[in-house]
Amino acid sequence: MRSLINILELSVGEIDELIATANDIIANPAKYAEKCRGKKLATLFFEPSTRTRLSFEAAMYELGGHVLSVSSGNTSSAAKGESVADTAKTVSCYADIIAMRHPKEGAPYVAAMNASIPVINAGDGGHNHPTQTLTDLLTISREKGRLDHMTIGFCGDLKFGRTVHSLIEAMSRYEGVRFVLISPEELKLPSYVKKDVLKAKGIEYLQTTDLESVLPELDILYMTRVQRERFFNEEDYLRLRDSYILTPEKMKLAKADMSVLHPLPRVNEIAVSIDSDPRACYFKQVLNGKYIRMALILKLLEVD
Ligand code: NCD
Repeated sequence: MRSLINILELSVGEIDELIATANDIIANPAKYAEKCRGKKLATLFFEPSTRTRLSFEAAMYELGGHVLSVSSGNTSSAAKGESVADTAKTVSCYADIIAMRHPKEGAPYVAAMNASIPVINAGDGGHNHPTQTLTDLLTISREKGRLDHMTIGFCGDLKFGRTVHSLIEAMSRYEGVRFVLISPEELKLPSYVKKDVLKAKGIEYLQTTDLESVLPELDILYMTRVQRERFFNEEDYLRLRDSYILTPEKMKLAKADMSVLHPLPRVNEIAVSIDSDPRACYFKQVLNGKYIRMALILKLLEVD
């Protein structure tokens, strides 16, 4: 029985296999329509979500399985003071696999330690978000045909953006990947990611506050929203929220084949007029998220 809490628990080879399965699902969906017949996914979301929860649920339905769902901490026994450990033991009696999102870093890990079924981390506080990373990797591989030898720029809230932390960890395992970290001073990538991942592996990276000056060198631009819910005060959020806004004007500086990714939700950081630019990949990313989660559910449930 295996869980997924951090993206590095999957080897590069396993990620290749998941991407291959997702591509096969996209090409032959009917082949997979009954694979999880009789199986139940429990989605336990103690933080807001649209894409992650619905893509997990759509994924399970498209595999022929069923879904049980807690979509707010206020409607479950968490509001009565139940521990994550007890919730995990309880849900193990009803479901075959859990996807959990929680505001506390490490909560899905505690769930995995106590559950008797696989637990998938669907985002824990400002820490990790491994299934968004799988979504991002599938998208990059479909857009670029490779995951190595590229320059990827991360722009926005690199401090609290859990999708950024997980994707940097994942991409740091591919050869020839260079990182450009674009953020305001206050929202720089946490030093633990720099030390444990980038410096530990001797990976080249550049830190800057200026998006325009680095745009021409990027193969991928990964935009993020400023994570309002993780700020200690509203004033800081209001001051920093519009630090970067990608506009058609700025897109003129970028390569003709640069891909723009964003885990979404978008607030103000990408002008809506960019949606029709062929380089905008964020809605393709949304769809890819369903297919890679189908592949992950099959793997963790050990379905052929
Ligand atoms: C992200 C998240 O929840 O971390 N959203 C998502 O899962 N697609 C990004 C965000 O909320 O900004």
